Amino acid sequence: MTIAITGATGQLGRLVIAKLKAKLPASEIVALVRDPAKAADLGVTARAADYTKPAQLAEALKGVDKLLLISSSEVGQRATQHQNVIDAAKQAGVKLIAYTSILHADSTPLGLAVEHRATEAALKAAGIPYVLLRNGWYTENYTAAIAGAVPNGGIVGAAGDGKISAASRADYAEAAVAVLTGNGHENKIYELAGDTAFTMADLAAEVSKQTGKSIAYSNMPEAAYADLLKSFGLPDAFASLLAESDTGTSKGGLFNDSRTLSKLIGRPTTPLSTVVATVLKG
Ligand SMILES: NC(=O)c1ccc[n+]([C@@H]2O[C@H](COP(=O)([O-])OP(=O)(O)OC[C@H]3O[C@@H](n4cnc5c(N)ncnc54)[C@H](OP(=O)(O)O)[C@@H]3O)[C@@H](O)[C@H]2O)c1
Repeated sequence: MTIAITGATGQLGRLVIAKLKAKLPASEIVALVRDPAKAADLGVTARAADYTKPAQLAEALKGVDKLLLISSSEVGQRATQHQNVIDAAKQAGVKLIAYTSILHADSTPLGLAVEHRATEAALKAAGIPYVLLRNGWYTENYTAAIAGAVPNGGIVGAAGDGKISAASRADYAEAAVAVLTGNGHENKIYELAGDTAFTMADLAAEVSKQTGKSIAYSNMPEAAYADLLKSFGLPDAFASLLAESDTGTSKGGLFNDSRTLSKLIGRPTTPLSTVVATVLKG
């Protein structure tokens, strides 16, 4: 049995590789990476697999039984890139593809979901058994906000009082490992989210509690928040995307109380307080 992970030198990919190594012999794990030089420390075989290079992908996927396709970070190019991976997997006879999609991909107001919907459709069209890991937000998305809360005197955003069922990257990595090493997950769709939702005001309250400082959350209109992020030096498109995602969050796009994630990993998801404490420790 050979299990391959794309994006294996990314933050989620590295956690998946580490957790897989705890369950399986390293000889059964293949890291598919854009830059093999960055994979030397992974402790498993690494093969070059750039999402933009179909011939390289076909070579890299030879002999692979199960594949975790970690969605690309190159927003705007992802549907084409993921299609390249799916085509190569079909050519190579891969028997199962698990894909890291977005929470409620079919109904979410978040614009980020467009490319995920395209990839989900491509997976279904390919006829390869698939598993859709519809991941909610990483709590670590708030790392900069938590770290900057005291020096900046507060936390800002445009998420209103939207409830955010976030979980840690490690929780989502463990779910991927459970699916890749378990049975009976073919053609299942998992809406994965944290056990306990929080609002941005709750996040500020947790930072206040742990720092002993008074930290408030200030909500802004989407356009003003995008402008603020741009003024910090974020590229225009990325700033707009983050602000638009906050609006989607305010509409409930990141809320889910199914507890599917904790059922899949067999333990509660990582609480907000733990992630805040880790960030504050530095
Ligand atoms: N749920 C959430 O809250 C959330 C938040 C952010 C992102 N995401 C999505 O989840 C994915 C994994 O998250 P993460 O934290 O691990 O992100 P990350 O650390 O940015 O990792 C992204 C991975 O994609 C790889 N990649 C990008 N372009 C590629 C290409 N052309 N060919 C092959 N690989 C390519 C990167 O390769 P290199 O290692 O060579 O750079 C990296 O390994 C992200 O890519 C994004 O789609 C989800």
